[in-house]
Amino acid sequence: MSYVRFYTRQTTFRQLEIFRTVAELGSVSAAASQLYITQPTVSTQIAKLEHTLKLPLFELIGRRLFLTEAGRKVLQETKMIFESLDRLESELSDLHGLKSGLLRLSVVTTAKYLVPSLLGAFCRQYPAIEVDFCIANREQIVQRLESNLDDLYVFSQPPTQLDIVAQPLADNPLVVIAQANHALANAQEVTWQQLEHDPFLIREVGSGTRIAIERYFAEQNWVLRPKMTIASNEAIKESVAAGLGIAILSRHTLLHSRFDDLVELPVAGLPIMNAWYLVHWRQKILSPVAKAFLQFVMQQQPLLTATH
Ligand code: PGA
Repeated sequence: MSYVRFYTRQTTFRQLEIFRTVAELGSVSAAASQLYITQPTVSTQIAKLEHTLKLPLFELIGRRLFLTEAGRKVLQETKMIFESLDRLESELSDLHGLKSGLLRLSVVTTAKYLVPSLLGAFCRQYPAIEVDFCIANREQIVQRLESNLDDLYVFSQPPTQLDIVAQPLADNPLVVIAQANHALANAQEVTWQQLEHDPFLIREVGSGTRIAIERYFAEQNWVLRPKMTIASNEAIKESVAAGLGIAILSRHTLLHSRFDDLVELPVAGLPIMNAWYLVHWRQKILSPVAKAFLQFVMQQQPLLTATH
């Protein structure tokens, strides 16, 4: 039997997908959580693939996983196989005239207040399409972009070093929030120096909101002394409402929630003005569904703004 026939009988696309994910993320556990399967399943499928190919694909040195030479070659060809499948999917969707298809969209945590309403309107227009919607912090979404896992991404701080197209979507002002009975809650204007000694709650390292705050404070020569790091906008709002301190968050995080215990403080020099961007690789062959979503979003301009 030829090798090709032997491989096609023994190897599945799923195995190749699992192999590609482990290779790109450099970890069995990260691949398992990204693919929503268990670590033993990942290890078993990699072992089966290695058994079929009769060569090890990875080597463990210290605690790090490296591709072997065979692994690198298999990864290169696997990427081409998946690119070809993407093209096929795209051509088939064209034949279906957008009646079906999958939109893969990843957004940073804070954009979850903006994007679902857009997705809802899009899905009403194209009811048969499916959506794979991933929400994570900026660092994790940058990793997904680098691994080319999705069609489109939403960032407020798109990575500058990558060859991407970033279309502005809406403004994203970052504002100071405090408990409603804060001593300065009714002030006409507050200076940051008046707040410098309030405990400051901030998002985790890897958050785009945190990057924007740190950059702005460095530019202003203002002192930032984070008291507590919290990896969730919702938990920060709860903590501020409970009187644990003040925080700076996107005004979008306040628009759809009922937080009577929170106020926005009118701090001179703020909001920090950011914007949301819809992002894709410049070289990406966008599927018909992704193209339709891009076009749909651009037609919605001006989008919901969060300025007063
Ligand atoms: P974040 O990202 O949800 O990780 O803070 C928002 C952004 O990119 O500004």
